[in-house]
Amino acid sequence: MRTDRTFTMLKPDSVEKGYIGAILEKINAAGFKIVAMKLTQMTRRDAMKFYEVHKERPFYGELVEYMTRGPIVAAILEKENAVADFRTLIGATNPADAAEGTIRKLYATSIGENAIHGSDSDENAAIEGAFHFAGRELF
Ligand code: RTP
Ligand code: MG
Repeated sequence: MRTDRTFTMLKPDSVEKGYIGAILEKINAAGFKIVAMKLTQMTRRDAMKFYEVHKERPFYGELVEYMTRGPIVAAILEKENAVADFRTLIGATNPADAAEGTIRKLYATSIGENAIHGSDSDENAAIEGAFHFAGRELF
C-alpha cells in the first residue's frame, strides 16, 4: 500500500462559495502535488456508497443530501506521509474545533458543511481515489 497519496473532495459548499482557487492554493503551498483532478457531481447512489461507513449515523441522510446538491472538486494528491499531513492541513471535522490556519477553520461553516474531505487511511485513500478516477486520469 503506498503512503504518499491521499484523496480529497472540495465539497459543494466550497464550490458554491467560490473557494476552489483559495483552497487549492493552500494545498499547493503545503507541498501536495495534484496527480488527478476533476469537477464532478455525485449521484445519490455515489454518495450513499462513498459514505457507507456512516449509514447507521443520524446525520447520514443530511450528509448524502449535502454531498449531492452541487458539484465537487475531486482530486488525488501526492506528498510524503500524505494522509496524515493532509488531515492536519484540513483540521478537525467540526470547524469550531479546527486549529488556526487549517482549511476547515478558514472555509467551513459547521460540522455538517465542512468544506473539504480528506481520506483517513492509506487503504481508504486508494479505495476513494479508484471510486472517482480511472487509471488513465492519474498523472
Ligand atoms: P470527511 O470524511 O468528509 O473527510 O470528514 P471527517 O473524516 O473529518 O469526518 P467523518 O466522521 O468521516 O464524517 C464524515 C462527514 O459527515 C458529516 N458529519 N456531520 N452533523 C454531524 O454531526 C456530522 N458529523 C459528521 C461531515 O460532513 C463530515 O465531514
Ligand atoms: Mg471521514
